[in-house]
Amino acid sequence: MTTSSNDLYSNISSKLKSSSIIGRKIIYFESLSSTQDQLKELSKTNEEGLIIVAGNLTQARGRFGRKFYTNTGGLYFSILLKPQLDLSESRIITLAASISLAESIYILTNLKSSVKWPNDLLLNGLKFSGILSEVYTVNDSNYLLLGIGINVNFPKNKLPSIIQSSSTTLKDVYGKNLSKIDLLSEFLKNFNKMYISLKKKNKSELLKKWVCWDDNIGKQVSFSVDSLTYYGQILGINTNGELLLNVNGDIMNFSSGELRFVE
Ligand code: BTN
Repeated sequence: MTTSSNDLYSNISSKLKSSSIIGRKIIYFESLSSTQDQLKELSKTNEEGLIIVAGNLTQARGRFGRKFYTNTGGLYFSILLKPQLDLSESRIITLAASISLAESIYILTNLKSSVKWPNDLLLNGLKFSGILSEVYTVNDSNYLLLGIGINVNFPKNKLPSIIQSSSTTLKDVYGKNLSKIDLLSEFLKNFNKMYISLKKKNKSELLKKWVCWDDNIGKQVSFSVDSLTYYGQILGINTNGELLLNVNGDIMNFSSGELRFVE
C-alpha cells in the first residue's frame, strides 16, 4: 500500500514536540488556486497553526499582487497565525519564517542561503523562495496568513524565461532532489521555537540571527516605496524588523517597499 501525500504531510504533525503551535494540523491538496485563499476560508473554524499544503497552485500570488510561478516539485504552503500582536510584531514573525527556512535548508543540505529583506531567500544571489504575509482583522484580532513558496525539486528552466536570470531552484544548486516532507518538518521545528520566543516578546535571538543570515548588509541598493525611489546602502534591520538604509548619510527606516541590488 502506498502512503498518500496527505498522510505523509499529516504525519509531520504527530512528530512535532508537544509544545509546538505551528503544524498541529496539516491538510494537503493536490492542486489549489492559492493556499492563501483556502487557508482564509478555513481560518474562522480552525486554531492557529493550521497549515495548508498544495502539490501545485494555479494562481499563486506574491507580494505587490504579483504572480508567483509554481511547478509540480515545489513546496507551497500557508500557515494560519493568530498571534495577538500588533502589526510591527507580525512583521518580525515573517522575518522569523525566512530565517527558519534558511536554517532548515542548511541543516538538510549544508547550503548557505541568504535572506533578502523582507521575505525572499537567495542562493548564489538568485531567488528560490518567497514569503507572502497577509494580515486581516476579525473581531479586533489580527490574523496572519503566511504563505511560503519554495522552488525545490525542479530545474529553473521550468520557470518562465523572464524570471530565469534572477531565479534558481534547490535542485539546480543542490544537484539532487530534497524530500519536501523533511524540509517542512525541519522548518516547523525551527519556526516553532522562534514563534514561541516571539510570543513571549523575546526578539533578541531573531535579531542576532538576521545578521548571520543576511549576506546583503553593506550592499548598494535602490528602494522603491509609494512611487519614490531611494538609493543607499543596507545597514540591516531595527528592532521592529524595519529595513535600515544609509541614504546619503541619513539613516532611514522602511516598513515596506521593494529592494533591488544596484551593480
Ligand atoms: C513573493 O515572492 O512575492 C511571495 C511568494 C509567496 C508564494 C506562496 S506559494 C504558497 C502561498 N500561496 C500563495 O498564493 N502564495 C504563497
